[in-house]
Amino acid sequence: MVRIRFLGHAGFLIEDLLIDPFITGNPVAGARVEDLRCSVLCVTHAHHDHLGDALEIALANSSILVSTPEVVERALAKGVKAERMNTGGEIEVKGWRIKMVEAVHSTAAGHAAGFVLTGRGRRIYHGGDTALFSDMRLIGEEGIDIAMLPIGGRYTMDVNDALRAVEMLSPEIVIPMHYNTFPAVRADAEDFRRRCVAARVVILEPGEEKEL
Ligand code: NI
Ligand code: MN
Repeated sequence: MVRIRFLGHAGFLIEDLLIDPFITGNPVAGARVEDLRCSVLCVTHAHHDHLGDALEIALANSSILVSTPEVVERALAKGVKAERMNTGGEIEVKGWRIKMVEAVHSTAAGHAAGFVLTGRGRRIYHGGDTALFSDMRLIGEEGIDIAMLPIGGRYTMDVNDALRAVEMLSPEIVIPMHYNTFPAVRADAEDFRRRCVAARVVILEPGEEKEL
């Protein structure tokens, strides 16, 4: 079991690992920047709704930021401790095994990624911003317990494609993300839950925390 707190949009605090903290400027942020404590901070890509407050939080917590070389360059320039990695690689940081996987998306620097995070007895896939891609099947072969998938459409998969992603990933639990933050990414998470037969869908409200 891991304690997962949804911070809104694509942000999650998983025990002591924070991913994509977009708080400032997020109309549905589920936390305050100054309240967030983490020892590891993963950033999927350099878009502002993912890099967000990451550098500030990493500095305040002396946490280790994990991202692509291009994002890490920016972090190091600000004095943040950081580990660079790239697609297909896996590193160990503070008891977490962190694997960077493909995401089909653009970004302001380098490339966009997803993560497979293994620790505390759970394997979690955070898709980042991504379109549906058939190699999600390979990620599923690693044995995913919990998948965090975008459902908002326009910039990422929508509900229909996220349902196809669940079939390839075959996780035990799916947490929808990247929807209803802005009008452009409106989606019906209840509809996603009703139609998802391949996994249990857990809908978290921004700020809500669950042991999963
Ligand atoms: Ni993006
Ligand atoms: Mn995004």
